[in-house]
Amino acid sequence: MQINPGGLLNTNDMVGRDNEIARYWQVLKRQGLVISAERRIGKTHIVLKMRDECRSGYVPFYQDLEAVHSIPELIRSIYDTVQQSSSALPSVKLKAYIAKWSSLLPSKISGVDLPTGDSTWQVLLAEAFDDLMGMANNRIILLLWDEFPLMLHNLQRREGPDAAIQLLDHLRALRLRHANRLRFLFTGSIGLHLVLRSLCAAGNTNDPVNDMLSLTVPPMAPQDTTDLAAALLEETRAARPHIPDLASRIASEVGGFPYYVHHVVDQLDQLQRPPLLEDVSAAVDKLVYDPQDPANFNYYVNRLSSYYAAYAADEGALALVVLDTMAGLSSPVPIPDLLNLCRHRDPSLQDEALREVLTVLAEDHYIEPRKSAAGTAYDFRWQLVKRWWKARRS
Ligand SMILES: Nc1ncnc2c1ncn2[C@@H]1O[C@H](COP(=O)(O)OP(=O)(O)OP(=O)(O)O)[C@@H](O)[C@H]1O
Ligand SMILES: [Mg+2]
Repeated sequence: MQINPGGLLNTNDMVGRDNEIARYWQVLKRQGLVISAERRIGKTHIVLKMRDECRSGYVPFYQDLEAVHSIPELIRSIYDTVQQSSSALPSVKLKAYIAKWSSLLPSKISGVDLPTGDSTWQVLLAEAFDDLMGMANNRIILLLWDEFPLMLHNLQRREGPDAAIQLLDHLRALRLRHANRLRFLFTGSIGLHLVLRSLCAAGNTNDPVNDMLSLTVPPMAPQDTTDLAAALLEETRAARPHIPDLASRIASEVGGFPYYVHHVVDQLDQLQRPPLLEDVSAAVDKLVYDPQDPANFNYYVNRLSSYYAAYAADEGALALVVLDTMAGLSSPVPIPDLLNLCRHRDPSLQDEALREVLTVLAEDHYIEPRKSAAGTAYDFRWQLVKRWWKARRS
């Protein structure tokens, strides 16, 4: 298996995630799904595996919507994806539809930037879905929309919140109209909740995804994490008999975060000699302290100003105060203690603002609540991220 942090793996090479995928199929039998998690946990790979090993009765279409900035582009992307997924559909029907589209689309969509305030796009989007239904021979159309929240965020910035709200409402109406034949799975590198929150602040969203179930991708199971580390170590100069111990050490230092497992093994590979057990901690330290930040920890800081400050000017700054404080503590901290500690840094801090930011940071997978004798306590969700935060910011 190739050491490839951040790259696209062949879905056959993926390790684990079978339980999560089985759960997602179970949900999709009855309703749509919003999958959220921190960046780089493996959402895209999970969704691609679902496409590649699709359950019978479904016709899956995977779309990466990162580069889609308008509703006409979304409609184009649906047609493009269908045309490129010819193996998923009965070829006679597909050919007939492609023939229809190639005569109609150029004048309808291609190259034309339709004004999204106009109702034309609603007709075109409804038509695109009618076409999909027509092709699928009673199977369920499954749209795997990766980076859908980012697309909404971009749409909101470019066209204003109304355009994003209208699209969400329209998609909801389509789900109702084709209740037994259409499923959406939304995922992406920013949580849908963040985008919905800022849309909510801007106008009236009517909880536009409350017919879908929201689930968080859990960390990879400990055995799967060890198996992944072992498979990657096979690519290094590690002595075969040492691989099981090295793999367990990596899993315990990193936790079930496959992206960081790839990175740590990549560091060990660069030693150009057989790695030893003590090299694992040094490899993790290298990731934490390297000014080039190869594992991209800085993203956790930067996204606060992009997505939190957009909602409330001072929320990003408050989140930093909380995280900087928490990183310096060795155990989960109860809310009253956290409030006191944060007030040392910012005496104007209000209880309610702290509670609100804790909720958002937990929804956003920075921190997680734990039960403690003193009530709910919070800590970083990932000890590795905490280690970086402490080393670089506290
Ligand atoms: N099941 C897996 N087995 C092996 N490696 C994995 C697995 N899942 C993820 N990875 C590793 O983690 C990296 C990130 O995975 P992926 O791109 O799917 O994450 P993501 O959650 O979609 O990230 P983003 O939020 O940035 O879109 C991959 O490039 C790969 O190196
Ligand atoms: Mg992804």
